[in-house]
Amino acid sequence: MNGHPKGSVALISGASRGIGSHVAAELLQQGWSVSLGMRTPVTPGWAAGHEDRVQLAAYDAGDVDGEQRWVRQALDRFGRIDALVANAGIMIPKTVIEADDDDIEAMMSVNVKAPRRLAKAAWEALCATGRGRVIILASLSGKRVKSAAAGSYSLSKFAAVALAHAIRQTGFDKGVRATAVCPGFVATDMAAALTDRASDQLTQPDDLARIIAMLLSLPNEASVAEFAVNCQLEEFF
Ligand SMILES: NC(=O)c1ccc[n+]([C@@H]2O[C@H](COP(=O)([O-])OP(=O)(O)OC[C@H]3O[C@@H](n4cnc5c(N)ncnc54)[C@H](OP(=O)(O)O)[C@@H]3O)[C@@H](O)[C@H]2O)c1
Repeated sequence: MNGHPKGSVALISGASRGIGSHVAAELLQQGWSVSLGMRTPVTPGWAAGHEDRVQLAAYDAGDVDGEQRWVRQALDRFGRIDALVANAGIMIPKTVIEADDDDIEAMMSVNVKAPRRLAKAAWEALCATGRGRVIILASLSGKRVKSAAAGSYSLSKFAAVALAHAIRQTGFDKGVRATAVCPGFVATDMAAALTDRASDQLTQPDDLARIIAMLLSLPNEASVAEFAVNCQLEEFF
């Protein structure tokens, strides 16, 4: 079966801005109902007129009970969960020598532990659809260590890629498909703090949003384990 049935529901973490906001807006525009996980829930401008298909959920990846609460809220409101987009993430630009344990823990906590808890909390609902989808917003920093300063972040993003593979392995027989989405620089606040390249030379968040919507629409028989996308030429990406 191609596409998603009408009334499909996606949870998107870090939907307040950047990639998460564009993914949520794109899915809404394509007919999905969206539950927006935000640290500070505020109705986005693009949701105006679609309140029947938009839920705001207070969600902080640092709260270990947050995922269960959010999933319960989404099920109470929509009755099903078809897809997760684990997008909330942080980048601390320190080498593995500069970083201390707190820096590593902060990135592991938001970039790896919280997405795992979210998948665990939503597992039953995802399996129940027979075609649950999980997108882990990893990074090309989960595929190669590009610089010393990206080293600590890479630790967490390699783990995020492994998480997507582990979810795919666990859920395949139940129709769950998981993809590690691995972009290079995307024109958001995060990249603005990391590169001097003009924002129009970076991958645009709305292009990434269209890629993610496409991945979510694929049938069970077209499983995409990893999707790499780059704005610049590198040896392998
Ligand atoms: N931009 C890039 O070049 C790039 C490249 C590869 C991968 N990525 C990955 O793509 C994802 C989105 O990045 P982005 O560029 O959109 O970043 P961004 O512009 O910095 O936005 C980050 C989002 O994550 C949320 N967030 C951060 N910490 C959180 C927490 N503890 N609990 C809940 N939400 C939290 C932020 O919420 P607040 O608004 O409350 O801060 C915001 O919505 C991240 O996983 C990032 O690592 C980005």
